Amino acid sequence: AFEVELARSGRTLTVPADRTIIETLREAGFATVSSCESGTCGTCKTRLVSGAVDHRDMVLMDEEKDDFIMICVSRSEGGKLVLDL
Ligand code: FES
Repeated sequence: AFEVELARSGRTLTVPADRTIIETLREAGFATVSSCESGTCGTCKTRLVSGAVDHRDMVLMDEEKDDFIMICVSRSEGGKLVLDL
């Protein structure tokens, strides 16, 4: 599990090992926008404020990987992620 802090809404959620970030957001009552949920369509692209991301998508270019995360598939490398949500 790892923590996701939502910078704009001031909430921190714990993402369990068997859930994605987007599933965790949905279960916490946040409206989410997604389509493929497999890291290929680009719909769930979210701005990353800070944190080390384990990028698992097929969408982001290398130069975007410091600033964005695809929240349907990607996870933390261990520490907390701060998202612009
Ligand atoms: Fe398609 Fe995340 S929902 S890349």
